[in-house]
Amino acid sequence: MTRIPVSLGPEVTRKMDVQSELGPVCDILLAAKSVCLLTGAGISAESGIPTFRGEEGLWKTYRAEQLATFQAFIQDPRLVWEWYDWRRGIIASKEPNAGHKVITEWEELFPYFNLITQNIDGLHQRAGSKNVIELHGNIWKHRCIDENTISENHDVPLKEIPPRCDKCGALLRPHVVWFGESLDGSILHKSFQLSSGCDVMFSIGTSAVVQPAASLPLNAAEAGAKVIEINPDPTPITGSADFSFRAKSGEFLPILDKELKRRTKQKKG
Ligand code: APR
Repeated sequence: MTRIPVSLGPEVTRKMDVQSELGPVCDILLAAKSVCLLTGAGISAESGIPTFRGEEGLWKTYRAEQLATFQAFIQDPRLVWEWYDWRRGIIASKEPNAGHKVITEWEELFPYFNLITQNIDGLHQRAGSKNVIELHGNIWKHRCIDENTISENHDVPLKEIPPRCDKCGALLRPHVVWFGESLDGSILHKSFQLSSGCDVMFSIGTSAVVQPAASLPLNAAEAGAKVIEINPDPTPITGSADFSFRAKSGEFLPILDKELKRRTKQKKG
């Protein structure tokens, strides 16, 4: 029998028997028309990709201000590209995990399903997810710093560091959002619209400390949606979640999915 700690709102935190007590979560999901997910680095952790703020997180080893700002890039594009080339190498050598795969399946399960990710690794798409909203960009895309044109590049390792624009010869930068930079306005607007319009909002594998992404689940809660968090550790949004499972997404999502399917079948009789 699988038992994991769950907090049911601010007061109640206790060990739960997954099979019997996933009922309330499944009931909410079975009644939901529109489900929205926000994912973070934690969903890719079980694929072997380091998170940012975890024990061996990237920001524990590397200084964000040296590698993930436009100033750092202009100062030393080679250093920044060597670091992104290294990360691309790691990501290319890994596979999507069971958590990514369940999310791909859920695209067909709910009338309206929207996946918003902070991840730049592209693993949701590699697992088969179609409509992925990437808040922080994508490590497999380059952007010309002069013409702002975006191109895809999957070379591992990169053939040229730093890479240059084929057309104008200017530096290419990773098409990702660095600290101190704004997110794409239309992507952000759409994400807030989707989070205010859903019945259920999942927050999976994010420390919920980086804005504006971290506000999406709270925005959904304010609009009346049920919020379900999946994270081995509590986060600043745990207290606002209707359910918060202290679990790894690659282990918990298949369990939830199995129970959801069992109940769907039962309902159909
Ligand atoms: N399953 C679910 N969650 C997990 C797992 C797992 N197997 N392993 C770790 N986690 C959780 C951690 O407990 C942590 O709360 O995932 C979270 C990862 O948090 P961060 O490393 O802070 O990553 P994220 O929230 O995605 O960071 C947001 O910050 O550095 C920037 O742009 C970068 O998109 C990133 C943003």
